[in-house]
Amino acid sequence: TKDMNADIEKVVFSEEELKKRIAELGKEITEDYKDVKETIYCVGILKGAVVFYTDLVRNINLPVHFDFMIASSYGNGTESSGSVKILKDLDYDVEGKHLIIIEDIIDSGTTMNYLMKYFRERKPKSVKLCSLLSKPSRRTVDVNIDYCGYTVPDEFLVGYGLDYAEKYRNLPYIGVLKPEIYE
Ligand code: PRP
Ligand code: MN
Ligand code: MG
Repeated sequence: TKDMNADIEKVVFSEEELKKRIAELGKEITEDYKDVKETIYCVGILKGAVVFYTDLVRNINLPVHFDFMIASSYGNGTESSGSVKILKDLDYDVEGKHLIIIEDIIDSGTTMNYLMKYFRERKPKSVKLCSLLSKPSRRTVDVNIDYCGYTVPDEFLVGYGLDYAEKYRNLPYIGVLKPEIYE
C-alpha cells in the first residue's frame, strides 16, 4: 500500500498541535527581534527543516530575508554518519547581520555543532538557533537551542520534514515509525 499513515505507530504531534506551537515560537522571535536594525536572515537547513521553515517564517511579523543551506549527515540510515556534508552553502555574505538558524531536529548535535562553528566564522552580528525538536538523550556534542519547539524521547520520528530514507517528509504531522519498517 502507498498509504504512509499505515506505517505510523502513533501520532506524536498533530497538525493542530504543531500549528499552535509554531505560532508561539514566531511570536517569541518577533518580540525578541523587533528593535534590531541590521538585516535578519532566516537560514533553513534543508531538507529536513523545509516544512517547519515555511510555517515558522509566516509567523514572524518582521521583514526577514531567506537563505538556505543543504547539509546532510544521515544518508539513508537511522544513525548519524558523524561527518557533515555541505551540499549547498549560504547565498549571502552574512557578516554583521543577524542569523536565525531554522532546523527540524537536534539529535546527536553533530550537524548543528559543525554548522554553528561554520556560521560564527562568517562573523554575523548574532546567531540564534530555532529547532522544532530536540532529543537530548542522544546528544554527543553540546548545542545551545535558543528557541525549541519540543523536547522528545528517543523514538524514530518522521513527518513534517523528517524522513526515513527520504520518505514521509510530506506527512502533515509528526509520528513514530513502526519498527518493522526500518528493522
Ligand atoms: C537530520 C536532521 C538534522 C540532523 C540532526 O538531517 O534534519 O539536520 O539530521 O541530527 P544530528 O543532531 O545527529 O546531527 P539529515 O542529515 O538526515 O538530512 P535531511 O535534513 O536532508 O534529512
Ligand atoms: Mn537535516
Ligand atoms: Mg534525514
